[in-house]
Parts: sequence; structure tokens; C-alpha cells
Amino acid sequence: MKSAKIIGIGKYLPKRVLTNRDLEKMVNTSDEWITTRTGIKERRVADKNEATSDLGLKAALDALKDAKIKARDIDLIITATITPDTQFPSTSSIIQSRLGAKKAACFDISAACSGFVYSLITAQQFIENGAFKNVLVIGAEKLSMAIDWTDRNTCVLFGDGAGAAVVSGSKKPGILSTYMGGDGSLGNLLMVPAGGSRLPASHETIDKKLHYLKMQGNEIFKLAVTAMTDAAKKVLLKAKLNINDIDCLITHQANARIILATGKKLGISPDKIFMNINKYGNTSSASIAIALCEAVRSKRIKRGDIVVLDAFGAGLAWGACVIKW
Ligand code: COA
Repeated sequence: MKSAKIIGIGKYLPKRVLTNRDLEKMVNTSDEWITTRTGIKERRVADKNEATSDLGLKAALDALKDAKIKARDIDLIITATITPDTQFPSTSSIIQSRLGAKKAACFDISAACSGFVYSLITAQQFIENGAFKNVLVIGAEKLSMAIDWTDRNTCVLFGDGAGAAVVSGSKKPGILSTYMGGDGSLGNLLMVPAGGSRLPASHETIDKKLHYLKMQGNEIFKLAVTAMTDAAKKVLLKAKLNINDIDCLITHQANARIILATGKKLGISPDKIFMNINKYGNTSSASIAIALCEAVRSKRIKRGDIVVLDAFGAGLAWGACVIKW
């Protein structure tokens, strides 16, 4: 059986930078508060006419170039997003058409901040069972459209961006072990209440600002640390590895304090933890993909390294995987 291996990665960040200083002019906050409580210094915001598929497409092109394969050789496109261009068709379908990836099947995955890891694990299944050879996995978000820019509790945390990976069948080891978990009973801790079949868009939902992201940050914080610690331990056990075997840990980039607390609970040395949250904030489905791309391109991850990807987010949904790079 062939293993599923990432053969190319890519990313795209919108040009516009929104700094903490900019936010000081918009809500009652300070650079000092945001920096010490979250580690975020700035984030990217897409243009009004830039949709999630525009970001995803650019990341996908970057990943295809890196993988040295043509769009026509892609068998499946999976886009992880909670900010799709439209309810349907899927954002993957829109990207497929623009890439000219004519033979690719397409669907999206909605698993919020765990979206990229969930999509990677899904791609692995199709590759290892022989159904597909090349899968394009994209994590893309335009979260700025779901943010209440008058709510200081949430608007300082999130950003826009996209990352992508080409996953292919290989004789060399790639994804070594995986784990996925969830708890839907806590779904109300982090959600966009309206816009779906429960509360379709109406004048009332707009007046009540129910199309914006609502979050109980404190609760999420604790649950994220516990779930990501547990997920990382589970995948290491499955791969018959221990914490000292990890060369690089990339968790979901939500808050530097969450990332460091998870690392501490795992007992991993901080220099093995990759973080770029200072530049982009929380980009949900895109965060791990962008971080992985930057870790590889900056040579923090080298061929043969053991990498753990570890995610947590709305759903609640969480998961991890061990990769031999
Ligand atoms: N600027 C200034 N003050 C702010 C603020 C901001 N941007 N946002 C919140 N505050 C205030 C709160 O109103 C509160 O004030 P009060 O004590 O007068 O009520 C105070 O800061 C402390 O809030 P608290 O919630 O205890 O802070 P915290 O240390 O838990 O940090 C988060 C808040 C949101 C940064 C943190 O809980 C977090 O990151 N949670 C995870 C969120 C997340 O990333 N979710 C995404 C999915 S994984």
C-alpha cells in the first residue's frame, strides 16, 4: 500500500496588513493587551472584491508549482473553509474551474480551525485505498467578512489567508498516524448563529448581528489546550514515537498562550514549536497550512523530519497527525 505524502505546499496572504495600532483606532483595545494576551501583532484582511476562492486559488497555484505537477493531474480537490464563496457550489468547485483541473472531483470540509488537518486525513484515505493518486488540499478563509468589527472580544483575533498542499501516493513514508475527535454538545461556544437553515438571513438577523462570529473565549482556551495535548499524545503513541522524536510541532495558530501551554503540557522544548500567529492572527482552516508552508520554506522543517500537526476549533472538532517530511 502506498503512503500519503505531501509533495508540494503553498500559501497566499492578502496584501492589506491590519496592525494592533490600527485596531486601537477602531475599538477600545491596545497593542499591549492584544500582544500579551494573544501574541498577535498584525493580521491580513482581504479586499472587498477578493473572495475565499481567490485566496485558495493563489495558494493552490503555489502548491502545484512546488509539487511540479499540473492541475490536470489532480484527482480530487478538498477545500477546508467556514467562509465559502457561496453556500453552494463548493469553493473547491470554483477553484477547480479556475485551475482547469478538469478531472478533479470536488468538495469542501467544514471543520473550522481543524479543517486543514481533517482534509489532509481525508485525502490520506483516498490515496491509501488506491482511489486517487493526487489530491489538492486547501485551507482558505475570508474571516474578515464574519467578524463584528465593533466587538473587541473577537475582532482582534482573526485574519484572512490560505494555504495548500498536494498530497500524493508515495513509496516513502508520509502521514504516519492520525487522530480525529469532536464534541458537538459544546458547539455553541464558538459559532455564527444565523445564515443557515435554522436562522435564515432576515432583517431581524442582520439587525441583531447574528451573522457574525460569537465566541466564549475563556472556555475555548482551556478546552483547546486539553484537546490538542491529548490529540498529540494519541498520534505519537499510534506512530510508536515519543515527544523527543518530534522535530517540529505546528498547532493551530489561535493564541500564542494556547500554543505554549499545549507545548508545556506535552513537555516539548519551546524551540521545536513553530509559530507565526504574530503576523496573521487566527486564520482558522488556513492556519496550519500557512504555518507548515512557512516552516518548510524557512528550513525549520527539513526532509526526514518528524512533524506533528495539531488542531482544535469550532464544532468542537480537533485532530492531529504525525508526518515524516
Ligand atoms: N482589548 C482590551 N480588553 C479586552 C479585549 C481587547 N481586545 N478583549 C477582551 N478584553 C477584556 C474583557 O472584556 C475582559 O474585561 P473584564 O475583565 O473587564 O470583563 C478582560 O479583557 C479579560 O478577558 P478574558 O476573557 O479573561 O481574557 P483572556 O486572558 O481569557 O483572553 C482571549 C481572551 C479571547 C484572548 C482568550 O480567551 C483566547 O484566546 N481564547 C481562545 C479563543 C480562540 O482562539 N478561539 C478560536 C478557536 S480555537
